Amino acid sequence: MEVTIWPDSDSASVFAADIVDKQITKKPDSVLGVPTGGTPLKMYAELVKRHSEGNLDFRRVSTFNLDEYVGLDPTHPSSYAAYMRQNFLQYINIQFSNVHIPNGTATDLISCCNDYEKLIKNAGGIDLLFLGIGTDGHIGFNEPTSSFRSKTRLKMLTDQTRKDNSKYFKSMADVPEYVITMGIATIMEARRIVLLAFGKKKADIVAAMIEGPLASMVPASILQMHEKTMIILDDEAASKLTQRKYYSKLDKVIPD
Ligand code: GLP
Repeated sequence: MEVTIWPDSDSASVFAADIVDKQITKKPDSVLGVPTGGTPLKMYAELVKRHSEGNLDFRRVSTFNLDEYVGLDPTHPSSYAAYMRQNFLQYINIQFSNVHIPNGTATDLISCCNDYEKLIKNAGGIDLLFLGIGTDGHIGFNEPTSSFRSKTRLKMLTDQTRKDNSKYFKSMADVPEYVITMGIATIMEARRIVLLAFGKKKADIVAAMIEGPLASMVPASILQMHEKTMIILDDEAASKLTQRKYYSKLDKVIPD
């Protein structure tokens, strides 16, 4: 696990965009795993900027989203499909046949989950997967006690996550209870993982993920077992790390 600490989320997001940039330059048909939430917004904005300046070509890139709410149509403003269009996809030259987001309104949700796994395999696996982290330690929507061997499947959200995410809905009652999420094993199969966490609100769970024991109560702690994982933090999210000074001294090198 490589931990990099940045003064603020702006500089951290530019560095995250540099990682995507380098990956796509090296492999134009890269397969990316992509997250939603507030955290990656500045990274997406930076990627859009680089694309509009003619410096980044997404024509051969494929994406797989981590998760989607069950029951929300892709046109629903709070769906992750809408989030991706609004914040990223509509501004870049990606081919829409290369964009993959679990279908939360599929009539057969179980088959939809199994098919998602096949689609990832058929694409050759995920080269580079970005993650955020929930305040309860979830990655994707793998809530505490999720199996470390889990694959793409249906999950029920915890009240904490529904409360955290209610800001994206009219009311708490509108937040779906069920979701489709890549499993923890699906995430761990990615060749390279980058997790972003910003702000004071994430400081406790970031410390548990990086310096606490491996525990299904902190799903993100599994990343300790992935040999090519980078954690990108701003100062606030890093504030509860006991080895903070040590991580700050390490070189910040874009993974090759
Ligand atoms: C949601 C997503 C996660 C994301 C998390 C953090 O629950 N399913 O993939 O990491 O939110 O969100 P934020 O970045 O807004 O804190």
